[in-house]
Amino acid sequence: AQALLTPGDLAGVRVVVSAGGTREPIDPVRFLGNRSSGRQGVALAAEAAARGAEVTLVAANVSGDVREAARHPGIRVVTVGTAAELSAAMAEAGADAQVVVMAAAVADYRPVEVSARKLTKDTGGVPPIELVENEDIVAGLAAARRAGQLVIAFAAETPEDEAEMLDRARAKQQRKGVDLLVVNEVGWDRGFERAENTVHILGPGGTAAGTASGSKREVAAAVWDAIVRER
Ligand code: CTP
Ligand code: CA
Repeated sequence: AQALLTPGDLAGVRVVVSAGGTREPIDPVRFLGNRSSGRQGVALAAEAAARGAEVTLVAANVSGDVREAARHPGIRVVTVGTAAELSAAMAEAGADAQVVVMAAAVADYRPVEVSARKLTKDTGGVPPIELVENEDIVAGLAAARRAGQLVIAFAAETPEDEAEMLDRARAKQQRKGVDLLVVNEVGWDRGFERAENTVHILGPGGTAAGTASGSKREVAAAVWDAIVRER
């Protein structure tokens, strides 16, 4: 609702938003994945388009019903599966974007080998799955950004308390070199697959740049408000 009161503050701004979660194949029928639905990223894309931005939504394994909310003439959707595909799509779409928002949940590791054939129990024993770390996509985008471009990361944390969450978030923001970091607390019963969300927004140098609570669209509006204040 907030967005409808401030239309046009992103008019003509080129933005890229990633959403969803990557899947790293093990064999033709199995993958390592995570519980991200893509709802927060899609809400960020929809909010930006409603404010006049030209949006590229890079969607990693976002189901059709969640994508529905991104149906807007101002939104172009690029579909990816793995972290490597997401990285390539972000590099391409991010090249001439003024704002890059990395809301997708990236698998930290991928299997070293992808079996061409389905693993079966015939082999005997429990198959070991050797993993290798994926590159940090948002850190790479932040390191490569040109003057005037803003890079925003998200972080999902499962902390003991809010102070620990903010400490971890500040360290993460610094490590990744991003302009803004949006942190939300997740757990078995919150964050994922939920309509509601609560976030803290950290600005440059770890400063408090806002908090938001409510629907994912309301959170998206607060995130864009913070981005607009930084521009
Ligand atoms: N991210 C990324 N590339 C990765 C991992 C994460 O671009 N290989 C991005 C996510 O999209 C998100 C931010 O980094 O915007 C924070 O993700 P998070 O998983 O919280 O950070 P990690 O550095 O992976 O730290 P952790 O060990 O807490 O998972
Ligand atoms: Ca991670």
